[in-house]
Amino acid sequence: MATQSRFVLRRLLCGLRARTGWSQGSASTSRQGRPPCRPELRHLSCSYPVCQSRTPTRGPSSLSFRSHTCGELRLDHVGETVTLCGWVQYLRHDLFVILRDFSGLAQVLIPQGDSASHLKTALCQLTTESVIKVTGTVKRRPTGHENKGMPTGEIEVLAEGVEVYNVCRKLPFEIKDFVKKSESLRMQYRYLDLRSSQMQKNLRLRSQLVMKMREYLCNEHGFVDVETPTLFKRTPGGAKEFVVPSREPGRFYSLPQSPQQFKQLLMVAGVDRYFQMARCYRDEGSKPDRQPEFTQVDIEMSFVDQAGIRSLVEGLLQYSWPAEKGAIMVPFQTLTYEEAMRDYGVDKPDTRFSMKLIDLGQVFFSTEIEFLRSVLSQPGGSVQAVCVPGGAKLFAGKDLEELKQTAKTQFSQELSMVLVKADGTLKSPLKKLLSVSATDELLQRTGAGPGDLLLMAAGSLHSVRPLLGNLRLRCAELLESRGASVRDPSALNFLWVLNFPLFLPKEGDPEQLESAHHPFTAPLPEDAQLLHTEPQKVRGQHYDLVLNGSEIGGGSIRIHDASQQLNVLKSVLKEDPSLLSHLLEALDCGAPPHGGIALGLDRLVSIMVGAPSIRDVIAFPKSFRGHDLMSCAPDFVSEEDLKSYHISVKWPTE
Ligand code: AMO
Repeated sequence: MATQSRFVLRRLLCGLRARTGWSQGSASTSRQGRPPCRPELRHLSCSYPVCQSRTPTRGPSSLSFRSHTCGELRLDHVGETVTLCGWVQYLRHDLFVILRDFSGLAQVLIPQGDSASHLKTALCQLTTESVIKVTGTVKRRPTGHENKGMPTGEIEVLAEGVEVYNVCRKLPFEIKDFVKKSESLRMQYRYLDLRSSQMQKNLRLRSQLVMKMREYLCNEHGFVDVETPTLFKRTPGGAKEFVVPSREPGRFYSLPQSPQQFKQLLMVAGVDRYFQMARCYRDEGSKPDRQPEFTQVDIEMSFVDQAGIRSLVEGLLQYSWPAEKGAIMVPFQTLTYEEAMRDYGVDKPDTRFSMKLIDLGQVFFSTEIEFLRSVLSQPGGSVQAVCVPGGAKLFAGKDLEELKQTAKTQFSQELSMVLVKADGTLKSPLKKLLSVSATDELLQRTGAGPGDLLLMAAGSLHSVRPLLGNLRLRCAELLESRGASVRDPSALNFLWVLNFPLFLPKEGDPEQLESAHHPFTAPLPEDAQLLHTEPQKVRGQHYDLVLNGSEIGGGSIRIHDASQQLNVLKSVLKEDPSLLSHLLEALDCGAPPHGGIALGLDRLVSIMVGAPSIRDVIAFPKSFRGHDLMSCAPDFVSEEDLKSYHISVKWPTE
C-alpha cells in the first residue's frame, strides 16, 4: 500500500474511533485475553469465548463465519447454538439487538446478568448498521412477546458471544424501508441503498432469472454462451455510440450498442446457437426504461424462422419466470405493426386496457366543418378520437390543459375535446358546429356516454396516431391517479408485434429512409423485389416483444446474402458499405440462414418486480444525465494523460 494511502486510512480510522468512542482500551478490557479475530480490525473489535456452532456445507451459510442466516431461524431451531453475522438494524432498550442480513431480521437478546456485563456493554454501545457476529442459543419468545409480522418473530437468540467487525459512523440515511430518500442520495450512496430489502430482493430475483435462462438455453436447447468484444468500431445505423480513444492518432474504438454483428459472424462460424448476457452501450440519454449501459439476453440461431424464435422465447420466459410472479400463458398474442398503430397509435401497445383509437372518417365524411373537410380530402388525412371513460367526470381543468399542451408541444397538433356531461349533453367548442345527427353519430361511433371525455385530432395519419397513442397512455395514468381502475397491475400482457415496415422515413429528413430495426433485417420474401423499386413498401422479418406496453425485446431474421445486404446498405440506406466490409465478406463465405432476438433484461426484471425504473434493478446505474453519482464518472482527465491519446479538450465558451 502506498505510504500516502496508508496515511489516509489511518486518519480515517482515527476519525472513526473518535466519532464512535470505540477505543482499543475499551475493547481490550472485555476481550479477556483472547486475540481478536482479525488483526486489521483490532482497534474496532472485541470478542468473547463462545461455543462454536457448525456451519453447513451447502447453501447461503456454507464456508462462512455464520451457521445460519438471520431470516431463516424458526421454532425448529430452538435449543440450537447458532452464529449469525449481520448489520445492527435497531437497538432496543438495552435489551435487544435486531440483526439484519440479506435474508431478514433476527432478534438477539442481550444477557442481563452480572456475569455477562462485558457482553452487555459491548452490545449496548453498538451503533446501527455496525457489523457484528453473534453466537447464542435460539430460544422461544415468551408467550405474548411473539411478533407475527416478522418471519423469525417466534424466536430470539440469547447472546453468548459477540465479535464487532466494524462500527458504523452516522449514515446519510437510515436503512429502513419506510425512510424516504431522494434518488440522487440513493445513487450517491448506492452501497447503502442496496442494503434495503427491496433492492436485495430485486438483485436476487434478477440473478435467479438469469440462472434459469442459462439453464433453459444451454440444457434444453443446446445454446452456447459466447462472450464478444466491447471494444469495437463505429458502424452505421442504430443508436449513438460511445467512442473510446486509442493511442493511435485519430483512431477510436466504439462501444457496441449490441453484439449484433458478432452474433451473426458466430453463425457464419458455425456456432449455430449463441447466447450471451451482453452488456450494451448507447449514448442516447437516460429515461426510466433506458440506461446508457444495460444488459441484453442476446440470442442467435441458424436454420430458423420467425416462428422458431418466437417459440424459443415463449418457452424461455415460461421456464425462467419466477413462480411467485404468476404463470405465463403461451403462445403470446400477436398483432401486426399496422394493427398496433391503427388501434393503439404506438408500436408497443399496452393491451391491458381498451380505449382504442377510433377512426371518425365516416362521421365527418360530409361535414360542414371546413377544417375537417380539408383534412379528410388530403391523402393520408384522418380524423381520429379516443374515448376516455369517466374522463369528463374525473379530470380537472389542469389535466385537460396538460393534454392540450402535450399535443401542441410534442406533436405540433391541435386537440379538440368533447366532454359528455352527466345529462348526456356536450361541452365542447365543437358543439355549435355539429349538427344533431353528426352529434348522435359521433357518440354512437365512439361509444361515449355521460361522464366520458372524447379527445379528437385531425391531420396526417402519421402524426394523429402517435399523438392519440401517447394521450391514451397519459389518460390511463391520470384516471388511475384519480382512483379509477384501468389496468390490472398483476396482468402480464405479452404481445408480439409483427410485420414491421423494413424502413421508415428518417427523423428530421423524411425523404431519406432508415431501418425500422437495423440494417441486417431481412425483408419478407414476398416483398424482396420491392427493395429495388419501392423500398418504403417492404415489410421486414422483424418482431418485437412487448409486455404491458414496454418493448422488452426485438429481433429479426437476418439477411444472409451479401449482395442483398450490400444493396440495402448502399442503395436504400445510403450508408458507406466499406464500414461493414468484414460482415459483407463473411456473408459471402457460406453464411447459413439465421435470426435472433435480444431481450432487455433490465426492463424485463423491472416489470417483474413492479419497479418504476430500470435503475431499481441495476446494482450501479447511471443518473438521468448518464453520471455515476457515487464515483462522479465521467471525470476529467489531465492534459498530460490526454496527450498520449492525441486529444486536446476544447472547452465551450460561456
Ligand atoms: P434492440 O435495439 O431492439 O435490438 O434492443 C433489444 C432490447 O434491448 C432493450 N433496450 C434497452 N434497455 C435499456 N436501456 C436501453 N438504452 C435500451 N435499448 C434497448 C429493449 C429492446 O427491446 N441487436 C438487436 C437485437 C436483434 O436484432 O437480435 C437489438 O439490440 O428491451
